[in-house]
Amino acid sequence: MILITGATGKTGYEVAKNLGALGIPFKTLIRDPDKASQITELGGQPIVGSIEDDVLLNQALEGVNRTLILLPNSEQQLSLEKRFVDAAVKAQVKHVVKMSSMEALPEATRTIPRMHVESENHIKDSGLSWTMIKPNFFMQNLLGSGKTIKEQNKFFFPFANGTTAMMDVRDIGLFIAKVLSGEGHENQNYEITGPELLSFHEVAEKFSLVLGTEVNYVNVPMDAYKTTLSQFVTNQWHLDAVIDLFEDIAEGGLDYTTTTFSDLTGKSPCSLEQFIEEHLSFYRN
Ligand SMILES: NC(=O)c1ccc[n+]([C@@H]2O[C@H](COP(=O)([O-])OP(=O)(O)OC[C@H]3O[C@@H](n4cnc5c(N)ncnc54)[C@H](OP(=O)(O)O)[C@@H]3O)[C@@H](O)[C@H]2O)c1
Repeated sequence: MILITGATGKTGYEVAKNLGALGIPFKTLIRDPDKASQITELGGQPIVGSIEDDVLLNQALEGVNRTLILLPNSEQQLSLEKRFVDAAVKAQVKHVVKMSSMEALPEATRTIPRMHVESENHIKDSGLSWTMIKPNFFMQNLLGSGKTIKEQNKFFFPFANGTTAMMDVRDIGLFIAKVLSGEGHENQNYEITGPELLSFHEVAEKFSLVLGTEVNYVNVPMDAYKTTLSQFVTNQWHLDAVIDLFEDIAEGGLDYTTTTFSDLTGKSPCSLEQFIEEHLSFYRN
């Protein structure tokens, strides 16, 4: 049996969808009882509770041999992931797949990548076999720019000339489902990317091409971007950590592609043009 976490979020939902489509039995640990029906519709078994609840976590891990740990970035992420892994060891789980990130290199010093590396090290020291999933920037991060693209034909980030090989979360979900349900992925680091390395000016060119009107990328100085972001991200740790990560991207921290996604799935990763075409309602009135 497979247990996945994060199934009500962007990537985890896609993992659940793909496991369901493959006919693989799975359970999920979700916090919101109103979302339990989403899981049953996909063919999974929802268990309602948080990783913070020891009794529920232990129940959820009963009879599980493979599991996915996927949590959002927060000051608590590392301690929650460690807690989950320790419970998985006690429950005699065999294999843990961890959602990490491409910036999580052993020498990483920035807050979020460092936190992922420390969580990865805890898993490696636990005796469980493991797979680390390390995606590039999500294409879905561009959905938040829909309003300014619709209203001003512009989008705003502080990435200067930094490039990313951004990837569709739907592909990441498929990839993780294949890892969870397949064989031979023990103790592997999988860096996964979209098909193309693009600067944000080139991203604007893709929008212009698909939308048939000129769209421009506006580079915002990091301090000014942080001031704007602070209206939406009110937790100081989270705000500082996101800006720290964005500085890394601006400095070229995500500037390479890999073929790992197509090597493992036999499928080409979604291109940015295709992603925009499939999300037109976000970008056109
Ligand atoms: N954004 C990027 O470009 C990018 C790139 C590479 C890697 N990453 C990594 O991706 C991860 C986030 O993935 P995502 O964006 O798909 O996540 P997400 O959409 O933010 O979803 C997070 C999920 O975790 C669940 N969750 C939160 N706290 C929990 C708890 N205490 N117990 C049980 N479940 C809990 C949430 O449940 P609720 O619905 O109840 O809140 C939700 O299902 C991060 O670790 C990040 O570093 C992101």
